[in-house]
Amino acid sequence: MELIQDTYRLPLEYVKGVPLIKYFAEAVGPLQSFQAQPDDLLISTYPKSGTTWVSQILDMIYQGGDLEKCHRAPIFIRVPFLELKGPGIPSGLETVRETPAPRLIKTHLPLALLPQSLLDQKVKVVYVARNAKDVAVSYYHFYRMAKVHPDPGTWDSFLQKFMAGEVCYGSWYQHVREWWELSRTHPVLYLFYEDMKENPKREIRKILEFLGHSLPEEIVDHIIRHTSFEEMKKNPMTNYTTMPHDIMDHDISPFMRRGTAGDWKNTFTVAQNECFDADYAEKMAGCDLSFCSEL
Ligand code: A3P
Repeated sequence: MELIQDTYRLPLEYVKGVPLIKYFAEAVGPLQSFQAQPDDLLISTYPKSGTTWVSQILDMIYQGGDLEKCHRAPIFIRVPFLELKGPGIPSGLETVRETPAPRLIKTHLPLALLPQSLLDQKVKVVYVARNAKDVAVSYYHFYRMAKVHPDPGTWDSFLQKFMAGEVCYGSWYQHVREWWELSRTHPVLYLFYEDMKENPKREIRKILEFLGHSLPEEIVDHIIRHTSFEEMKKNPMTNYTTMPHDIMDHDISPFMRRGTAGDWKNTFTVAQNECFDADYAEKMAGCDLSFCSEL
């Protein structure tokens, strides 16, 4: 893979008011001609909400629990990342086109940037939401290790940017709300990271029901075992260590970092927490979504 110095630490670019990594911003225009297929399954999340986890669960379900088949390629190839673009790497669109049906496709796009065809084709969506505080901390460490992002600065300054929606993909608050709203009119299975931590079997059963699949109990148990944080952390097909070191530096912070609910408590100061809660109450006013910030 060709590594180009100019790829790193570039400022975000705004598309329809949404800040994006420069290359992803360039991908959004051509993406609008993307033709979805009715049997596609879209995995949608705000970044750092458990995308990789639910992607591995879904691929294991699609492969009938066959771990060998899930070793066929890294997760970002098995589940193409729709808006991915960068110098020297195949775009998400190219990877999707080479993926045999039924396809699993990942996106973090807010609805304003989503290709219309996914909605027109009534493509089923599995959405995973995670509490904002853990997302903010996880995103901060991801910014540090994945140099396609701008420099995150200090934790405090990053947190301010997160609250203002000035991070890649924009406002967490708007993202979780608008996909929740969409679930009233579109086939969206809206899951929570914390529920998956608390009771993975219950959440996998929800996924199976949503897909109209059934699997024997022992296969479900096998999937739970191989999609645990510990297993996925040591699995090169899920832990992103196959990405070039220049793009993701796991020595700075591993992609599979903590994998817990409530880790934010180790980072937020009391003052940051108070400020965050007050701002959160305003931004989430009138919304019937409720999040669990620790287990
Ligand atoms: P932390 O940084 O809090 O550890 P995404 O895949 O959306 O980028 O999300 C990454 C976050 O999900 C990271 O959170 C990562 O550790 C966590 N994660 C990945 N696989 C997981 C698993 N199997 N169980 C629990 N958390 C997982």
